[in-house]
Amino acid sequence: MINGSADYRDSGLEFPADFLLGSATAAYQIEGAFQEDGRGPSIWDTFSHTAGRTLDADTGDVADDHYHRVNSDLDLMKRLGLEAYRFSIAWTRIQPSGSGKPLEAGLSFYSRLVDGLLDRGIKPIATLYHWDLPQELEDKGGWPERDTALRFAEYASIVGDALGDRVAVWTTMNEPWCAAFLGYGSGGHAPGRTSDLAALRAAHHLNLGHGLALQELRHVVTKPDAQYSITLNFHALRGEDNSSPEAIRRIDALGNRSFTGPLLHGEYPIDLLQDTHAITDWSFVQPGDLETIHQPIDFLGVNFYSTATVRMWDGKSDKLTNDGHRDVGGSAWPGSRNVEFLPQPGPLTAMGWNIAPEALEELLVSLSQEFPKLPLVITENGAAFDDVEVEGRVHDQKRVDYLRRHFTAAHRARARGVDLRGYLVWSLLDNFEWSYGYSKRFGLVRVNYETQERTVKDSGLWFAELIETRRIPEGRE
Ligand code: FCB
Repeated sequence: MINGSADYRDSGLEFPADFLLGSATAAYQIEGAFQEDGRGPSIWDTFSHTAGRTLDADTGDVADDHYHRVNSDLDLMKRLGLEAYRFSIAWTRIQPSGSGKPLEAGLSFYSRLVDGLLDRGIKPIATLYHWDLPQELEDKGGWPERDTALRFAEYASIVGDALGDRVAVWTTMNEPWCAAFLGYGSGGHAPGRTSDLAALRAAHHLNLGHGLALQELRHVVTKPDAQYSITLNFHALRGEDNSSPEAIRRIDALGNRSFTGPLLHGEYPIDLLQDTHAITDWSFVQPGDLETIHQPIDFLGVNFYSTATVRMWDGKSDKLTNDGHRDVGGSAWPGSRNVEFLPQPGPLTAMGWNIAPEALEELLVSLSQEFPKLPLVITENGAAFDDVEVEGRVHDQKRVDYLRRHFTAAHRARARGVDLRGYLVWSLLDNFEWSYGYSKRFGLVRVNYETQERTVKDSGLWFAELIETRRIPEGRE
């Protein structure tokens, strides 16, 4: 019996057999083995090795040691019953300096991973770029420079050629907003630059890199039913007073439409160009770029965690800047620094992010209204909590509840006609949470960083039950 409730804890909801259920990770967050088999340094190696950039000076040098434990991690995925696994490929394992001849060892690692997934009946979803730009390309200017997009296309072609007979889904980029605006604007992510202009240029060249990479992939991939996508993190925005509509418009332009505009409508939004005109005339967008970026994709990857409430700063009181990311002084909002981000009402996760399943439903519905023919997949959703392990068990009730409520939201969106095809939980394993280091745990599986022992949390058992029964289980005791 379906019992719809205002708190998104419905019972009895079922997903059809073709709704893809799986989990996600990213290379730098889990692999470790940072200097092995010829791997070159990426901007995240440099950043995490620079004093003051990550909490407790944590680095991904070892992370979950997944590079050496890939077989047992694959068995773990099988144990949970995952139908799909979204992983990313470390560019510097393939091309240590970001260009030239590929390393066989790197290609072979991912080839074994893909084979291991297929042997276990798990769909491989490969992301080409989850933020780990080769340091040598950053030294030449990084994403603010057009050449980086060309190098990315070359790398895409190498990987597509090597794995294109087996990978089910290709995702060019993960969350280009973070790569551009945290990497080059606020400085909270690698490479840690703080320039309004660099951030806007980076956004465009990430978009261009996506388009060029797609062209290469379609050329070299041989699996006839391979699918192509990009994953964006959407800013789900709320208002507070009568200045909020303007604040929402500005943050939506930078945070959402600077990607959906060129990717899905073939143009940058006019209001974005106006808001940023004092920084740039956007002449780095060359003739033909928008056609390259605006290509058909098979689905849009949606990452969702929480909401943000914004209003315009009155210039008198202290400015509030809690935009959900570590505040390191620079701004992720070029041309719109006068927008305030208000503290969110609880309950909050360990990231300080508010829990708002209804916003996921609204987001999915609004995306499907804006892009009616485009299928959607939730490529990341999940939560960090301060888990405790007691005698080999992790009773992470809060994570179970978070997932239960967000799966309910996804189900409701489908019931409202949204063409949502799948849901990948972030993350399979506890891992290196970027500038927060190992202090934030998102895994369905706990990792003991001293012994590398893996312990399936209650949320992992809950998710395994969901996959097996195709119904959203209630809580777990
Ligand atoms: C997303 C990232 C992912 C992870 C989650 C918590 O922004 O794509 O790597 O850090 O947030």
